This record gives sequence, C-alpha cells and structure tokens, in this order.
Amino acid sequence: MSLNSLFKNLAPDEFVSTWRSPSNIAFVKYWGKKGHQIPANPSLSMTLKECYTETKVTFKKADALNVDLKLDGVSSEKFATKISNYLKTLEELPWLNQVSFSIETSNTFPHGTGIASSASGLSAFALCLTDYLYKLSGEEKNNLFYIRASNLARLASGSACRSVYGGFTTWGECSLAESSDKYATPFEVHPELKHLKDSVVVVSGEEKNVSSTAGHGRMSDHPFAAARFVQAKDNFDIMARALKSGDIEEMGRVLESEALSLHAMMLTSPEAYTLLKPNTLAAIEMIWSFRRETKLPLYFTLDAGPNLHLIYPDVFENKIKTFISHELSSLSQKIIHDEKGEGPLKC
Ligand code: DP6
Repeated sequence: MSLNSLFKNLAPDEFVSTWRSPSNIAFVKYWGKKGHQIPANPSLSMTLKECYTETKVTFKKADALNVDLKLDGVSSEKFATKISNYLKTLEELPWLNQVSFSIETSNTFPHGTGIASSASGLSAFALCLTDYLYKLSGEEKNNLFYIRASNLARLASGSACRSVYGGFTTWGECSLAESSDKYATPFEVHPELKHLKDSVVVVSGEEKNVSSTAGHGRMSDHPFAAARFVQAKDNFDIMARALKSGDIEEMGRVLESEALSLHAMMLTSPEAYTLLKPNTLAAIEMIWSFRRETKLPLYFTLDAGPNLHLIYPDVFENKIKTFISHELSSLSQKIIHDEKGEGPLKC
C-alpha cells in the first residue's frame, strides 16, 4: 500500500497540538549556508525565557494541502504561504499534501524588536508537527523527539533549530563530536554562567530592508567568506571553552567580535548594506566606556538588525539595569529584559 493510502486509512480525522517555544540569541553566529539549510559554520546560542511564541495547530485530513494561519487572532496570508511552501519542501513526508493545517499563533514580544520571531515561531510549529508525526506512527515520545523537531525546525529556519532546547545549544559540525549540521544539541556551561541576563535595547523597530535569508545568500560571492568561516569556527572553539570554564571576559570578547564581524560582512558584501543605526554605535560606545570605568562584565551582541542584546550575569543586575535605564533609554524606543530560559513547553 502506498504511503498516501496508508495515511488515508490510519490518520485520525483531527489532531491538536499546542507548544510554547522561546527565541534564542546566537553567541557565535550562523551566517552563510552550504546547500539547503546546512550552515557554513557552527553556531552556539542561548535560549531566552520570556520571549516566546505560543502556537496551536489543528491537523485535519483533507483532499489537498491547505494552511490557514492567524497571528494574534488576525489572518495572515503571508505567513500561511510561508508555512505552506515549507511543508512542500518536506519531500520525505509527501502525505502532508492531504492535511489541512489551522494555525493560531501569538508572540509575547512585538515584531521588529531584534528578537527572532522566526526562531520561536518556526520551532513552535516544528514541535507541533513532530507531535503529529508521533501520533501517526503510534510511537511513544522518546529521546529522538527533540532531535526530529530540531531537524524539522532547521528546514524552516536555521536558527529555529536551536530553540528546541533550553540553556545553551550548538548547531553545526565542529570539534564537538555530538554537534550536527542537521539539528541542534544541548551544551552544558559552567555553573557561574548559568544565570545570564539578556536586556534587549530596541534602537529601531523598522522593518529590515534585507532579510536574514537574503543576507545568507550574499555570503555566496563574498570576498571574505572563506576567512569569515575560519574565524567563526575558531570563535566557536574559544566560546565553547570560555563557557565551559566560566571565563566571562573571554566569552564577552568573542561575543562582541561575532556581532561586529556579522555586520562587517554586510558592509563589505559585493552588494553592500548595513542594518546598523547611529544609535546602535552610540550605545556600543557607551557600553565600552561603562565597562572601562566600572570593570563590570557587560557585553553586547547583535542579530541581523540594529538592536543590541546586552548580556551579563544576574549578580550585577541592579547596577547594570541602572546604567541601562539612565544612559541607554534615550537612545532606544524600548528595553525588553529577558534571560536564559529552560526551553519549550507543551501546553
Ligand atoms: C544573524 O535562521 O533567520 O540571527 O535559515 O534563512 O531562516 P534562515 O536564517 P535565520 O538566520 C539567523 C542569522 C542570525 C545569526 C544566528 O541566529 O545564528
């Protein structure tokens, strides 16, 4: 019997799955791809806590693939088409073309704040989809569940694969034997670095004019691509060692170097562009002088956007939050305080 007719006979008429999945912030950046959703270099990230997406998917047997999606209660054709195109790329699951997906999703954080809603949103969707695949196969949830979910999330958006676990995760082949190109793997850090904060300084909420996916594409003919991939690999090893040994100064040095290298790639790509704003640079100068004067371990990183993620240990929370509210709030539209989180939750 074909997979399609097996599916017709065995699938439940309706199945519902709901997951909450957080965003993550990369300490070593994924920037550039080899082929279809394979990273050009390994990356390492911290999963957030308060910034998450909650997604409910109702799966129903149907005559053809159909996706409708509501974001905060409002239908979104754009996101429904994205999910539908993604599902069509999953060639090993051809019977998905006999399913209707009704998706209700919402984020705890506003769009355009430098917090990756694709990482949280697509990991939440991949977790719901994995639930459905387990239901269809009759398998009990086992330790392959998160590996499968991470693989499905990667195929939707690379950074989303790192959100299926809490704490720190790695993604991409590297010196760590367990780290894979296909899915993310949890990464244990030193006890002193287990309570890091992430305060996001939202310098601009404007829509970016070059998406991350387009930015990855511009690495394919970049004159510095090969050097960047070597640097990222080296930074990955140094970052992993610093996180393991609790060397926060080394962690911070590499964290900032990764953010600046990412934006240097944009500035020096054949079709040059920048996502930085004057206030991004003004905030960086203030963070550097605050660190020089106070010797406190406050470091920044950037995603593909103008907004800064400030990373620091919770023991210095009061002093650092005072600095942020006194000195950085005039440069920003909003500050979102978050921290390392425990990972996705099935609702
Ligand atoms: C700068 O994961 O958004 O945030 O795989 O094309 O969806 P696609 O790209 P995406 O790229 C993230 C880039 C980054 C760095 C990172 O998160 O590692």
